[in-house]
Amino acid sequence: MTIELQYPDINSKDAFQSVIRFWGRVPSIVASQILRTLADKYFDGSLNGRIVLDPFGGSGSLIFEAARLGADCIYSDVNPVFTFIASTLVKPVKEEILKRFFEVLRQRLLSKRYPVYLSEKLVHISYWDLYSIRIEGEEFFVYKTVVDPIIFLRGEWSERTYRDLLSRSGFVYKLAATIYYKFKDRREYRYSRLREEVLRENSDKLSSVKLNFTKALRLLERLGLLFTKFYPSAVFYGKLEGDGFRVLERICEVPFAVMRHLVDLEERIRPSFWYPNNELRYPPDLGGRVFRKADAHARLSELFTRRNLTALSILWHEICNLPERNYDEKCAKDALKLCFIAILASASRMQHRKGGSWAVKSYWTPYDFVEYNVWYLFERKFKAFLDFKKRMEEEGYRELWRRVSFYTLDVLEIDRVVPRGYVDVIIAHPPYYASIQYGELSFLWAAWLGVRVPFEREIISNSQQAVILSDGKVVPKDDSYFEERMREAFVKLHEVLKDGGILCIIFNSRSRRRKERFIRCIRDAGFEIVETYRCQQPRNYRYGISKFIKENLVIVCEK
Ligand SMILES: C[S@@+](CC[C@H](N)C(=O)[O-])C[C@H]1O[C@@H](n2cnc3c(N)ncnc32)[C@H](O)[C@@H]1O
Repeated sequence: MTIELQYPDINSKDAFQSVIRFWGRVPSIVASQILRTLADKYFDGSLNGRIVLDPFGGSGSLIFEAARLGADCIYSDVNPVFTFIASTLVKPVKEEILKRFFEVLRQRLLSKRYPVYLSEKLVHISYWDLYSIRIEGEEFFVYKTVVDPIIFLRGEWSERTYRDLLSRSGFVYKLAATIYYKFKDRREYRYSRLREEVLRENSDKLSSVKLNFTKALRLLERLGLLFTKFYPSAVFYGKLEGDGFRVLERICEVPFAVMRHLVDLEERIRPSFWYPNNELRYPPDLGGRVFRKADAHARLSELFTRRNLTALSILWHEICNLPERNYDEKCAKDALKLCFIAILASASRMQHRKGGSWAVKSYWTPYDFVEYNVWYLFERKFKAFLDFKKRMEEEGYRELWRRVSFYTLDVLEIDRVVPRGYVDVIIAHPPYYASIQYGELSFLWAAWLGVRVPFEREIISNSQQAVILSDGKVVPKDDSYFEERMREAFVKLHEVLKDGGILCIIFNSRSRRRKERFIRCIRDAGFEIVETYRCQQPRNYRYGISKFIKENLVIVCEK
């Protein structure tokens, strides 16, 4: 059976998703439809007073909808960053404190001078000096720079190196040789021009060239043959006015002085305040290999321009310095921390000029990217957060937090907080094998928040990770590992469910073999599958997993 979803407003943004990009989030509209269908079919149309557990809570979409339908809810996720996000989204925040804190931050960034390193010398500058430019003697502030880097030849061009690249097997090496050859008679290229020429000259294998161009260029950089420098191709600027930033103009032909200033600052500046610079690697007890989704970046700081890293470190320093004298202040501070982590992807080099924040589910940074002014992003995010809170009230989420208890817990230990036979409904949306590396993608946020990602407990399939068991045996986190843990998880969930209770699983894997094996895990735990149906994702939905997933499989089981 397929349930066709009826959407009141198919193009509308998910209120939650407009605050923070969460990979794999079930759009609220879909979550609501699934829960309503469940309530109608199994609970006489209402979840009022029922106890609902979501053991793979993520950003909380499913449990919030259950709470909206009147259920008493238990949210749990193994990842403390996700518990932070979900709880901060629904916790009540006193608007006047939030606005006061925001104003404190704004004033500090406007008036204070901060220590930064300029060519390794400690100097004091104001936040806005980082983005200030002069046009005809007048001062403006950049809010967006489109970067089209310049690729330079390192050392002398060598025929031998070219032949060596050509002789290696694999398309990336062949393409790298083609790119390297372009530098035979010139020492530098604008990235966009280089790409355009290579694509034109290799139009017979266009799609492979497009797909591998970045990889080939990165390879040449790794081999020390080429290097890249930040270079703006368009600059968008504005003025600080009243209590906000006013967008003014765009310059495509960047005047030399402006360009020189921006490039110069980018090359010389370094933060003096703390910023996370963790390696993109799993912990030693998981084998210590590089992240599956690191995309050739060794450290977190490589995801940012130096200017934005400096700006982020200043803003984070000020957020952390806000007072926390009572619960209300803590909630307001947490909300600002949430706004901060929510802008990290857009403030990074992952921001592609075609838009969409964090459009690829990895730490992929395109060569031509957009550098946004950190405060500009923060100001917009703050407004989005206030709007979101307003929308929450209008859409009936206001008192919802009273009905949800939050836990950071491995599903395999759920019985530590949920008694046996206690729960009426379990709504479970586990990871789908290797498709989204939740822990790894949350690492960017976790590092700033100073929180550890519990990779060793994450139920996921990931060829780069291996767990060391108590008897010293090393077990790769492959599909069988994932299935074994899911089977154990379903056994635990079976224990905490009431007799006659319902387990509703949202699953999606295009592989038939995986689907069959996954269903076997559910049955092995003692559940009886009463129905499965397909639930469509909204077609034009901008946010969430819908870009990749057209429909979910909903599996309803009874104990
Ligand atoms: C598909 S996502 C859930 C998304 C969520 N429904 C939403 O809409 O935001 C799967 C979640 O399972 C969590 N997870 C993975 N291993 C876990 C474990 N051992 N115990 C509890 N949660 C786990 C991940 O951290 C991730 O948040």
